[in-house]
Amino acid sequence: MEIQQFLKELKAFGIANEVPNISEVNAKFLQDLIFLKKPQKMLEIGTANGYSAIQFALELQKYGGKLTTIEFSSLSHEQALKNFERAQVSQTIDGRLGNALDILPTLNETYEFVFIDGMKRRTKDFLELVWDKVPAWWIIIIDDVIKFREKMVGFWEYLEEKNIPYNIIPIDVDDGIVMIIKK
Ligand SMILES: C[S@@+](CC[C@H](N)C(=O)[O-])C[C@H]1O[C@@H](n2cnc3c(N)ncnc32)[C@H](O)[C@@H]1O
Repeated sequence: MEIQQFLKELKAFGIANEVPNISEVNAKFLQDLIFLKKPQKMLEIGTANGYSAIQFALELQKYGGKLTTIEFSSLSHEQALKNFERAQVSQTIDGRLGNALDILPTLNETYEFVFIDGMKRRTKDFLELVWDKVPAWWIIIIDDVIKFREKMVGFWEYLEEKNIPYNIIPIDVDDGIVMIIKK
């Protein structure tokens, strides 16, 4: 099946089954960032059924970049692996099963682009755990920061405390992302 058709069907499946996949507009924006910055290694927290990971991988695979994505639901992880096969991006994606809070401290690599889309109340913990893995001048994006602002316990305070500059970008009609360029 043609990849754009597959992505449309995966998105429709997500809507019908309440899988909180990123929007098509957000996917396009993040692909454009990958295109511009060309990270060699990208990290995603929260794979779900792999919709966003496939979108990232399609851009990364054009120049040999790689994605590591973490998911703690085995059902979602299995669905994602199947979807990676169907989209022919398995070579580009290392799909890890487990709690990101446990896996992140074991990753001994740097990631130039991190996309945080896990449990919102642990956003601050995810950010803290990835911070030292991201080199200067690179990017951390956090999804759903408008709709779930209140759920992100300690996150906003953490940004203030650490004096971390950020932009809130209202990328969707009802939600947005935080973009941090690490300095
Ligand atoms: C918003 S969905 C991710 C959607 C996906 N990024 C996409 O756009 O297609 C969040 C996912 O993160 C997973 N998750 C939440 N907290 C997690 C954690 N601590 N470790 C691993 N996965 C987690 C959930 O099981 C869920 O599938």
